[in-house]
Amino acid sequence: MSRQAYVNGRFAPHGEAVVHIEDRGYQLADGVYEVWAVMGGRLSDAEGHFARLERSLGELRIPMPMSRKALELVLKETLRRNRVREGLLYLQVTRGVARRDHAFPTTPVTPSLVITAKALDRQASNAKAEAGVGVITLPENRWGRCDIKTIGLLPNVLAKQAAREQGAAEAWFVDAEGLVTEGASSNAWILDRDGVLRTRDTGANILRGITRHSLLEVIAEAGVKVEERPFTPAEALEAREAFITGAGTLVTPVTSIDGRPVGNGHPGEMALRLRDLYIQHARKAGI
Ligand code: PDD
Repeated sequence: MSRQAYVNGRFAPHGEAVVHIEDRGYQLADGVYEVWAVMGGRLSDAEGHFARLERSLGELRIPMPMSRKALELVLKETLRRNRVREGLLYLQVTRGVARRDHAFPTTPVTPSLVITAKALDRQASNAKAEAGVGVITLPENRWGRCDIKTIGLLPNVLAKQAAREQGAAEAWFVDAEGLVTEGASSNAWILDRDGVLRTRDTGANILRGITRHSLLEVIAEAGVKVEERPFTPAEALEAREAFITGAGTLVTPVTSIDGRPVGNGHPGEMALRLRDLYIQHARKAGI
């Protein structure tokens, strides 16, 4: 069966689904997005992603395109039509279509809503993730509202490309204080020399990762010590382990930073254990 996308109230074959050339998302990146991991046909951490979507839209004064309940139905229908059991669900809401002008349209417009689903070979992606990934570090150059999950991702795009060109999978942004903020599409963690898990606090200019949030609960249940406290790239290199979290990567060990090994250069035991625990949690708690 061919892929289908949901665009503004109807499903269309993926290759034919289009938005207007004056969509403010297309011209001005005036919109937000969400990505759900799909496991066993269920949306992982669904509530957290809905809540963040509502918050991102609220911060930009874009109305919810439909109720949370209705949205949930459309998301599930997108999964069903695409027969996705393991994969990713992408949702994007923009302010809508209007004659190009930086300021908001003066007459009310309807937000544009696009939803797509992508199947993943979970076994292959697990094997890849469990082997660990390399990250590079780059100076933080994003705007001051990284808590909003906006589609304006150019610094993230360039950072990810730089990582790829250096044989790495992710780029960590480092702020003016020399502290890691987060990855281009994931949150950053270490298991420090004292055996304490550490990730940046949400008072910093980072996305409040839903996987990060759930993993903090999983960690608390497992009784492992954790602190929401920043770290430098040097501390990460001296750490026992490092890893990243996100809907795309779940929990993925980091084995090198800027080409230098983390710990023994192999995926960390704690990261792999947390990956397992997180996946168990997500499979149970998904809707
Ligand atoms: N990215 N930080 C950034 C900058 C991100 O883009 C993401 C997610 C995360 C992790 O957030 P969460 O755990 O809620 O997925 C952190 C998604 C997956 C993406 O852009 O595809």
